[in-house]
Amino acid sequence: MSQYRIEQIDDRLSLVDCWDDFSPLAVDFGSSSMRYRLEHLSAKNEMLIKAVGANRTYTILDMTAGLGKDAFILAAFGCEVYLKERSKVLYLLLSDGLRRASQNPDLQSIVARMHLFFGDSCEGLEGVERFDAAMIDPMFAVKKKSALASGEMQILQSYIGGNLTPENLLSTAFDMGIPRIAVKRALRDTTTYSDRSPVYSLKGRSSRFDIFMQQGI
Ligand SMILES: C[S@@+](CC[C@H](N)C(=O)[O-])C[C@H]1O[C@@H](n2cnc3c(N)ncnc32)[C@H](O)[C@@H]1O
Repeated sequence: MSQYRIEQIDDRLSLVDCWDDFSPLAVDFGSSSMRYRLEHLSAKNEMLIKAVGANRTYTILDMTAGLGKDAFILAAFGCEVYLKERSKVLYLLLSDGLRRASQNPDLQSIVARMHLFFGDSCEGLEGVERFDAAMIDPMFAVKKKSALASGEMQILQSYIGGNLTPENLLSTAFDMGIPRIAVKRALRDTTTYSDRSPVYSLKGRSSRFDIFMQQGI
């Protein structure tokens, strides 16, 4: 029996791990945790907004779409967000979550600002002239016992694999002339970057953003 299965559970496309007891993974922008974040949305409460230097008119490239949560927060703030995801399964789960949110009157104006593409972000993204900022959130290792009630990061990590390197994505963002690039890392990750150094880092409780800047093209 293969480890993973894609299943329709209630109205949601879900990834099920048949070998472990993780909850099925699905994208739900209407969940209570996302509603809480929406109700308290501000640059003060969301480090991500500060990390990309967002103002509400920004166009942002999310190079590692995953479950689309970061992109959703930026879109809720008012940004236009282009997301790219290279895993077909994650792309399908996220497309399904976006489709359901687009039918929810409270969420539809937000997800209308999220534009999802399938493929490897190292190949760039055609069709958008200029991004104000990029965001890179490669998978980093999560501890099994960490306070992630749903276990969604655990199943995501188990499916995608942990500790992906941001180097190629960072180079691509630089080659695209994107003026500001925020890379999410585990707080105490000491891995250094080979070609360049962040201008500064923003630190949260368990993660940080390394901020890179260049003159925009
Ligand atoms: C930790 S998850 C991102 C979570 C996301 N920030 C969120 O808020 O839900 C990392 C995702 O990046 C994707 N990914 C990694 N490298 C990529 C690449 N080169 N191009 C596109 N997607 C990539 C993985 O497939 C995975 O779904």
